[in-house]
Amino acid sequence: MTVRHFLTLNDCTPAELQQIIHRAIEMKQNLKAIAHEAPFKNTVMGMLFEKSSTRTRVSFEAGMAQLGGHAMFLSPNDIQLGRGEPIEDTAIVLSSMLDIIMVRTFGHERLEKLAEYSSVPVINALTDSYHPCQLLADMQTYQECRGSIQGKKVVWVGDGNNMCQSYMNAAKQFNFQLIITCPEGYEPENQLLDDLSSYVSVVRSPTDAVKDADLVVTDVWASMGKEEEQAKRVKAFADYQVNEALLDLTKNDALFMHCLPAHRGEEISENLLEHEKSVVWQEAENRLHAQKALIEFLLNASH
Ligand code: CP
Ligand code: NVA
Repeated sequence: MTVRHFLTLNDCTPAELQQIIHRAIEMKQNLKAIAHEAPFKNTVMGMLFEKSSTRTRVSFEAGMAQLGGHAMFLSPNDIQLGRGEPIEDTAIVLSSMLDIIMVRTFGHERLEKLAEYSSVPVINALTDSYHPCQLLADMQTYQECRGSIQGKKVVWVGDGNNMCQSYMNAAKQFNFQLIITCPEGYEPENQLLDDLSSYVSVVRSPTDAVKDADLVVTDVWASMGKEEEQAKRVKAFADYQVNEALLDLTKNDALFMHCLPAHRGEEISENLLEHEKSVVWQEAENRLHAQKALIEFLLNASH
């Protein structure tokens, strides 16, 4: 049996990623007709969350319902995983009953272990290292608003976190230039920077970095799991807020994205989500459409 997982963007070819985004746009336009067809009737997704979520949980659960299937929320506090049952055993048992599994966890290696022992597709719904589902929605949003992102200048402002590292993978897979602007000590992994040096560079000054950008993206300063560093990070990132003055330096038709949840007054100024360049609500909604297309792709490609 061939099983296709989606642990990072690198699990798909550039052509497959384009195909998924194209299909997501199509599914968005034909939402009611596809729900009526119920193409994945009797298909069950397990959703394992070891961290909080609003968008990811609701988009996967609603998406499965709209495809005619069912989604099951699994909290580690309620299943034996939380009492020490090994992830390998959990993977074998879950995948013997489910058709597809989505996982949000801490260490990326935990997700990899689960995928290794799963006989059905596993989707990364965020780890400490990557958040590839969000990138599908972001790339869909850019495509809908401005067309191809190929050759564009994308600027990541802030922490070199899971979102930043997925943007790095996206730079290669979608062929755009990525500038990362962050304080010293908050860069993404060195190995990734080395491997992707023809697509990605670090520029310390945020005002230099965003000049003539086509897309500016940011995220919280303290990701889930880093809450105890909040005060230290607020100081370190003080010069890295995305605000109106920073967006003024970008191209006239530039876009602003944020995966949400956002902290107004920290990584963004108070009204930035309502800025004319902001497409954050469209971006959030596209999680639903992009993931439905991803589910369809993985189920059809695994047999
Ligand atoms: N952007 C995102 O993944 O949001 P949630 O944490 O609410 O799922
Ligand atoms: N970087 C954030 C993304 C949340 C969707 C976190 O990991 O908390």
